[in-house]
Amino acid sequence: MKGEMILEIRHLSKAFGTNLVLKDIDFSVKTGDVTCIIGASGSGKSTLLRCLNLLETPTTGEILYHGDNIVGTKVNAPKYRSRVGMVFQSFNLFNNMNVLENCMVGQTRVLKKSKEEARKNALYYLEKVGMAPYINAKPRQLSGGQKQRVAIARALAMEPELLLFDEPTSALDPQMVGEVLEVMRKLADEGLTMIIVTHEMAFARDVSSHVVFMAGGVIAEEGAPADIFGNPQNHLTKEFLGRFMKG
Ligand SMILES: Nc1ncnc2c1ncn2[C@@H]1O[C@H](COP(=O)(O)OP(=O)(O)O)[C@@H](O)[C@H]1O
Ligand SMILES: [Mg+2]
Repeated sequence: MKGEMILEIRHLSKAFGTNLVLKDIDFSVKTGDVTCIIGASGSGKSTLLRCLNLLETPTTGEILYHGDNIVGTKVNAPKYRSRVGMVFQSFNLFNNMNVLENCMVGQTRVLKKSKEEARKNALYYLEKVGMAPYINAKPRQLSGGQKQRVAIARALAMEPELLLFDEPTSALDPQMVGEVLEVMRKLADEGLTMIIVTHEMAFARDVSSHVVFMAGGVIAEEGAPADIFGNPQNHLTKEFLGRFMKG
């Protein structure tokens, strides 16, 4: 249901040794939100997404998933990740499997779907990202843009309620960025709930319902895209966006 709370992050901090990289992060995600996280390299964006995907354990704080704290509790991580999926900068496809198998394996292993059902579902999502003609290809035979579209189809095939994207176009040659952003725009239009870490400011301005600007491990500013991009209040946001406008 639109507007239903999925995740609530409360006072989340993360330290690597003595390096405190996330400091007292608070924010929430509701069904239908498209949240773009922007900020300089090293500001903690990936670490935050990795905490939300249970790839890192927060040092302090809570992540409430439908009201239940999942930090420091015994949650079934593969099952949770089928609900809160993630697409990585580096695709992370299974190189020994073809495109179709990549999009089926999570469904059969984690969701215990039949092969037939998994195949049907995989084909549906591969069609959606324009990769249905490549079902028998191995990842090494694909371009970066194609690999990322398969990775998106694989994540979608789990039918997550929330999908996290960590700089999905940063590893791509410039001419392939558009095809991936186009798929993501379509997903946003269809109402998929997403958190997207990106350096594509025009994309963030156009598709997000909410923008979070991170600096030095904190949320320095957040708000509606029109406000963040049109009338930023924090000097760090102004400086960061200024660099993009000039470049
Ligand atoms: N596994 C790790 N071990 C130690 N330090 C890390 C690790 N992952 C990230 N960091 C540090 O955390 C800080 C934030 O990194 P990251 O979350 O990757 O930022 P961003 O994604 O915004 O570029 C950086 O200083 C980085 O060096
Ligand atoms: Mg990062």
